[in-house]
Amino acid sequence: MEHFRIRGGLPLSGTIHISGAKNAALPTCVASLLTDDPVSIDRVPHLRDVRTILSTISSLGKQVTRRGHTVEIVSGGRIDYEAQAQFVQQMRASFLVLGPLVARLGRAVVPLPGGCRIGARPVDLHLRGLRALGAEVKEEGSRVMVTAKRLRGARISLPTPSVGATEQIMMSAALASGETAVQNASWEPEVEDLAQLLVKMGSEIEHRDGTLFIQGRSDLHGARHAVIPDRMEAGTYLLAGAITRGAISVTGVIPEHLRSLLSLLEETGGDIDRTEDSVSITMNRRPRPLSVKTAPYPGFPTDLQSPLVVLLATADGMSTVEERIFENRFTYARDLQRMGAIIEVSGCVATITGVQELHPVQASAPDIRAGAALVLAALAADGESTISNLTQIDRGYEAMEEKLSSVGAQIERIG
Ligand code: EPZ
Repeated sequence: MEHFRIRGGLPLSGTIHISGAKNAALPTCVASLLTDDPVSIDRVPHLRDVRTILSTISSLGKQVTRRGHTVEIVSGGRIDYEAQAQFVQQMRASFLVLGPLVARLGRAVVPLPGGCRIGARPVDLHLRGLRALGAEVKEEGSRVMVTAKRLRGARISLPTPSVGATEQIMMSAALASGETAVQNASWEPEVEDLAQLLVKMGSEIEHRDGTLFIQGRSDLHGARHAVIPDRMEAGTYLLAGAITRGAISVTGVIPEHLRSLLSLLEETGGDIDRTEDSVSITMNRRPRPLSVKTAPYPGFPTDLQSPLVVLLATADGMSTVEERIFENRFTYARDLQRMGAIIEVSGCVATITGVQELHPVQASAPDIRAGAALVLAALAADGESTISNLTQIDRGYEAMEEKLSSVGAQIERIG
């Protein structure tokens, strides 16, 4: 099976250019369904999940072309109202096509996404939002069938600031009649990026005191948009620098999007420098222990939780990390324990007692972010490790082995 062979124990040093954000590229590509005009998205990373969403969109009738990091999506003359299971079951974000299809066609049939290792990941808030906008929603087995003559604006309150539900409702409300207000909406940078595209397409969207206001339009026009840089990729490579006691710079980033991580890296003993579009870390010492809770932006992001735990695994003392977004996001801890880490997981809190060093491992990437965390742990371990199931890594990290090799990592893709 294809795997990474990694010889760890070497400090990484150098500069990595960061790609466009996966979690902004996916919804912005879906937004092309809201118009018959051409939509062009720049800085789209070459990732498995992007290929999945583009296959989903073209299976619905759009013509999709890629040139480098630019994706052009133009009308194919028709749009189907039914999404195929193979795409939605591969990747949960494909479920975002539901609202745009209902808003455009008045009906949609989309398979329900499965859960995954990090949690049940229900879509009840997506469906609650569509019902509030006047749609009739029927769940039949593993599919959901939604119809609506014309979506109409509504006041919706989210019990939790769900990224996906906010994106689903925002895209649907963009073609509804009247104003929609979403209380407790997610306003992660990637959600804001989607809103930026919708505004370029003719929407009127405002975020005020935690509430998102969308003025519906009868139709939207085409636009061109470059997605924001991937703060999760950037954070992962900064943590790789800290974990290997090296010096890493990431360029083409928005430092403000990394604020919560940067303050933790300084607290643990890293030297941080930043410019307008780059951040550098130098780690000359054993990390100090931390107490961290994951939270919606601008709090510490759940997608950087596993790489941070790898850093804390060799800290000088006991750390705690509380995962407050997903219910089961410490499954990778067992692999770290096999590498010598001392991690106790109780409910949604991991207690990490720092050890001097980690040992090499043979492990399989459980999901995108845990897979990246295991690569970082292997880079810290003095010896040869193998990380398999690279499909998960390739879902979320563009050219990971090339980027890591460029800063001195001994990593190669085998098989
Ligand atoms: C997005 O997932 C991201 N994915 C995730 O990144 C990220 O971890 C997550 O937001 C949180 O920031 C994309 O953007 C493609 P949520 P999403 O809806 O939208 C519960 C990665 O590795 N919930 O904000 O699925 C849910 O169970 C991925 O790039 C409901 O209860 O996350 C979870 O506990 C992993 N009902 C919490 O809300 C719903 O209808 C947050 O989920 C929807 C969500």
